[in-house]
Amino acid sequence: MISLAACLVRPNVHIGPAYPKDAPAIARLLAASSNDCVPLSEGELLARLGEFEVARSPAGQALGCAAVGERADGRAWLSSVCVDQRWRGTGLGRQLVQRALERSRAAETDLYCVSRSPAFFEALGFELLDEPAPTLRVARPAGGPPRRTLVRRCPFLAALAC
Ligand SMILES: CC(C)(COP(=O)(O)OP(=O)(O)OC[C@H]1O[C@@H](n2cnc3c(N)ncnc32)[C@H](O)[C@@H]1OP(=O)(O)O)[C@@H](O)C(=O)NCCC(=O)NCCS
Repeated sequence: MISLAACLVRPNVHIGPAYPKDAPAIARLLAASSNDCVPLSEGELLARLGEFEVARSPAGQALGCAAVGERADGRAWLSSVCVDQRWRGTGLGRQLVQRALERSRAAETDLYCVSRSPAFFEALGFELLDEPAPTLRVARPAGGPPRRTLVRRCPFLAALAC
């Protein structure tokens, strides 16, 4: 049964909660973008499944994913934003991030992320922070653009601060 939270984002593509059967496909998506995303094993994904949403084709194929989870620092982090190479440039990445923002707004929290492609997140309302990116548990390939930390402020909290 499709969750009530599921949402039609493009003709025939739905974004909704991840299920255990999605774990192998999510692991493949992340592994195929390991320069930008931290690869996760199926076991790690199953342990964090509640953080993930998946964009699915009508046949149930996972076309993209994004995760929102609280880390040890108490912040909510957006991670594993990834779209199948064949579907990039179709607006799916934007839709996955917008859904993540809706989830963090519902929780009334700022949403942080780390990226080597900050322009993508800046286009979606995130601002660059002048603070080091958190250390990764996996080694990254040398070279390439630096990892930057970004935040999307929760409108509710921003209004309280005024
Ligand atoms: C980044 C990624 C998720 C974007 O997904 P996508 O479906 O191609 O993005 P969209 O089609 O929704 O593009 C939305 C906007 O972002 C822009 N954009 C997309 N990728 C971009 C990038 N790498 N750098 C800068 N801008 C980017 C698009 O031009 C578009 O702008 P527009 O609406 O003004 O035309 C996808 O390229 C991907 O999976 N990359 C590998 C993993 C990754 O880098 N994840 C982010 C860090 S976890």
